Formats: sequence, structure tokens, C-alpha cells
Amino acid sequence: MRIQLRINGAETEADCWEGESLLYTLREKLGYPGSKNACEQGECGSCSVLLDGTLVCACLVLAAQADGHDVTTVEGLADGDDLHPVQQAFVDAGAVQCGFCTPGLIVATADLLQRNPAPSEDEIREALSGNLCRCTGYAKIFDAVRVAVGRV
Ligand code: FES
Ligand code: FES
Repeated sequence: MRIQLRINGAETEADCWEGESLLYTLREKLGYPGSKNACEQGECGSCSVLLDGTLVCACLVLAAQADGHDVTTVEGLADGDDLHPVQQAFVDAGAVQCGFCTPGLIVATADLLQRNPAPSEDEIREALSGNLCRCTGYAKIFDAVRVAVGRV
């Protein structure tokens, strides 16, 4: 089937089969590898994207369900060569180890700070509870979120 998506503001078309995940379409067909495929079961958050502004796991959304909708990936957060404040905060805090979880954490953090510009520690932990880091560098990740607060 043929679907139409607005990805990071760009009108895009893709051919997919009925059971294909949005994550697969983004990564394998449309050239958006930023969203990572780590579990493909909705457990890790590495594939987080915004679908019409709502945070979702792209591995749990069918590409067909996104037909006609807006998708924002981690690639769409930057403004040209200027990193999104959350992306810059992860750099400044040294919050990246292997980096596999990083795109999902950045999208989830950007979503949090857009909804709640001054989150409490508990609110930060709750918002990122669906994003797992296999390198377990959570201290730096939470530092990055605190750095990003006030910059977004
Ligand atoms: S790859 Fe989607 S939640 Fe892990
Ligand atoms: S930095 Fe390696 S999984 Fe998080």
C-alpha cells in the first residue's frame, strides 16, 4: 500500500505492507536512521518519535496508521546545523556512551520540556521511565535533562 507522511515537515510517500512498522519504514525505506531499533517490542524507547506531537514508540505504530499524519524524528529537532537545545545539552553533559538510546531519550526529553518546561526530579524520571539505556549511564542522562531545562 502507498502511504503519505509529513516527516519533519517534508511531504513524503512510501510503499509498505499492511503489517509494517513505522520504525521500519522510517529507517529502511525513507532514510531516517536516527530512531533506533533496539527491541521492536515497545520496551526500550530507542525508537521514540512524535506522531502529531504525541510521543510514541515507532516500533509499535503501523506505518499505515501514520498515513496522512505528522511525524517528527530526532533528525527533525535540529534547526539546520544548529542542534536542538536538548541535543546540545546531551553533548554538554557528556550523556552519550554507545549512543543507541540517545535519540529516543532526546525526543522524549524534548517532548517533556515542551509540555513541562520546569519538571521536578520525579517528573523527569517518570517522563523518561520508558527509555532504557543498556550502558546504564543514567546519572549523566539526568544531568543532561537538567542542563536542558531553561534552554528549551
Ligand atoms: S525499539 Fe521500539 S521500544 Fe524498543
Ligand atoms: S548510551 Fe548506550 S544504550 Fe544508552
